[in-house]
Amino acid sequence: MKALVLAGGKGTRLRPLTHTSAKQLVPVANKPVLHYGLEAIRDAGITSVGIVIGDTGPEVRAAVGDGSRFGLDVTYIPQEAPLGLAHCVLIAREFLGDEPFVMYLGDNFLLDGIADLVNAFREADHDVQILLTKVAEPQFYGVAELGPDGEILRLEEKPEHPRSDLAIVGVYTFSPVIHEAVRAIRPSARGELEITDAITWLIGKGHRVHSHFVTGYWRDTGRLQDMLECNRMVLEAIEPDVRGTVDALSEITGRVDIGPGTTVERSVIRGPAIIGAGTRIDGSYIGPYTSIGEGCVLEEAGVEYSIVLGDSAIRGVSGLTYSLIGRNVEVTRAVGLPNTHQLMIGDHSRVQVRA
Ligand code: DAU
Repeated sequence: MKALVLAGGKGTRLRPLTHTSAKQLVPVANKPVLHYGLEAIRDAGITSVGIVIGDTGPEVRAAVGDGSRFGLDVTYIPQEAPLGLAHCVLIAREFLGDEPFVMYLGDNFLLDGIADLVNAFREADHDVQILLTKVAEPQFYGVAELGPDGEILRLEEKPEHPRSDLAIVGVYTFSPVIHEAVRAIRPSARGELEITDAITWLIGKGHRVHSHFVTGYWRDTGRLQDMLECNRMVLEAIEPDVRGTVDALSEITGRVDIGPGTTVERSVIRGPAIIGAGTRIDGSYIGPYTSIGEGCVLEEAGVEYSIVLGDSAIRGVSGLTYSLIGRNVEVTRAVGLPNTHQLMIGDHSRVQVRA
């Protein structure tokens, strides 16, 4: 069995953070989302992985390499434009050959991995296995409508008026019959070759399409609240480990992982939290569910329930919460007029300040 990981596409929902960089590389507990997916594939006993890449291909290649450090053998499959999930299967035909495969959307996060799901597929005689879970806002996902015996009646991609609250999770297992389906379908109204259409085509031809409920924790990390939630879930379980130096005036409580070369002075860190390597924390408060990347500086800062990417600085600003702060960013106190905010932020940014 092989795996096809989709790491191309556009990252519009997490703009500007993923405007120019890969959304699959946004870190959860200081590790790119994509790495969790690759580890899950390896833990399911699969080693041959094709990764579909788009404009952000060079970054993905730099973050994954030849896959050997994950115990994987990775082949890159460039996609000229994000023409749809079924288009990815189309262009991966040569890599996939006639083997069954699992297709994994690179921005999806499953806390319990995929070994059980892959094993269930290996043992059963299905042509397709899709994963479903109940969600509060089904209109943002592919949605399945099931019949009285649990059979799939219909799949719809991001319907305006969803017929159920069952979202399609971004991990699919396919037998080689899927290749016929992706060749048969036409682009949808949004101009993409939809995998939901390909699966619907197979149902119409009488193929065995099975749905499986995800019981564990799953998120599509496309939106801020989902990234922060995943970050919280992973941090809940991290092992405390202090490899940096913490002075006697600082207080560290709970599950806190501090990377090598990081210094903590006159600060309070309340876990669960992770601080990357080579970061300087001085006179600051870091609250629960916070991930701070490598090479950051926090001086007289206060941040909780947030993700701060590498090489960023926060100076003299406290009360940051529920925030996603990009790489090489500076957040500092405005000087001069009292009660002023001075901003230089990119296109499509979102800033919420106290009124
Ligand atoms: O996360 C689950 C949802 O994923 C499902 O419920 C939907 O049925 C499914 O269509 C998909 O919806 P998204 O809107 O989240 O798909 P997105 O465009 O974000 O693409 C998913 C991943 O695949 C992402 O890592 C980018 C990559 N991709 C996407 C397209 C359209 C490609 O590599 N190439 C593409 O052409």
